Amino acid sequence: MNRDEALLREYYSSSPADITLDDVDVNHLPSHVSIIMDGNGRWAQARGLDRSKGHVAGVDALRETVTTSVRLGLDALSVYAFSTENWRRPQREVDLLMHLFATTLVKELPLFHQENVKLRFLGDLEALPKRTRDVFYQGLDETSDHTGMTFALAVNYGSRAEMVRAARLLAQEVSSGALSADDIDEAAVESRLYTAGLPDPELLIRTSGELRLSNYLLWQLAYTEFYVTDIMWPDFDRWEMLRAIRAFQSRNRRFGGVVNQ
Ligand code: IPE
Ligand code: IPE
Ligand code: MG
Repeated sequence: MNRDEALLREYYSSSPADITLDDVDVNHLPSHVSIIMDGNGRWAQARGLDRSKGHVAGVDALRETVTTSVRLGLDALSVYAFSTENWRRPQREVDLLMHLFATTLVKELPLFHQENVKLRFLGDLEALPKRTRDVFYQGLDETSDHTGMTFALAVNYGSRAEMVRAARLLAQEVSSGALSADDIDEAAVESRLYTAGLPDPELLIRTSGELRLSNYLLWQLAYTEFYVTDIMWPDFDRWEMLRAIRAFQSRNRRFGGVVNQ
């Protein structure tokens, strides 16, 4: 992906003490970074605020992260915004989140145009409130001819539901005679997932210190490197992204093979 080196240097000037842009190799960045954006509620509670304020602050962190990813020249950024299990939250919080998704997308569309970002969604959008769904489809439509970074927003996403859906699609094709059961291979499954066509993430970041996947991309993360930070999502910034990439670049990825034998 194209990158403006001068703009990137400028973006990463005034470093904190522990890291600078020179600590990462910008020619070997992960092409697809995925993030479980967690800790909005705890961030707010620690400040004596309502959880909703944490979600609002989380939007600012996400905006910076999209810009950071574009500046770095990543091919794809995906983020987990709402899981199939998050419907269990109080109705008031669910409503706030759905409202926030719609208003944020409307507000940020000019950024996507300016940065040539292509939007996509992971998850079942049909269950979303109509206004949110309409805005999402509008975003898809308006960015469909963009050729820059792909930004994938996982909303009403659950990995198990995604795999069940893929199995059902395959079964329907087999029963209609369009597909033979013998032709079902990994590529056939992959192409029926919400992530069809997206390369698997090379780096997964989870904020707020939780050591679990919470039903996120179980298939796609098979060989992904994980980086867990104690930072709460609203505090995630361009520097924490660099720390995650620095950790990623220190890993020895073997993919089941042997290195340096
Ligand atoms: C992540 O923050 C945002 C969503 C799941 C929508 P949380 O709301 O899960 O925050 P914590 O984990 O309760 O602190
Ligand atoms: C995972 O966070 C889902 C999102 C970040 C959207 P949760 O806060 O829902 O996960 P659990 O409940 O701690 O596993
Ligand atoms: Mg959480």
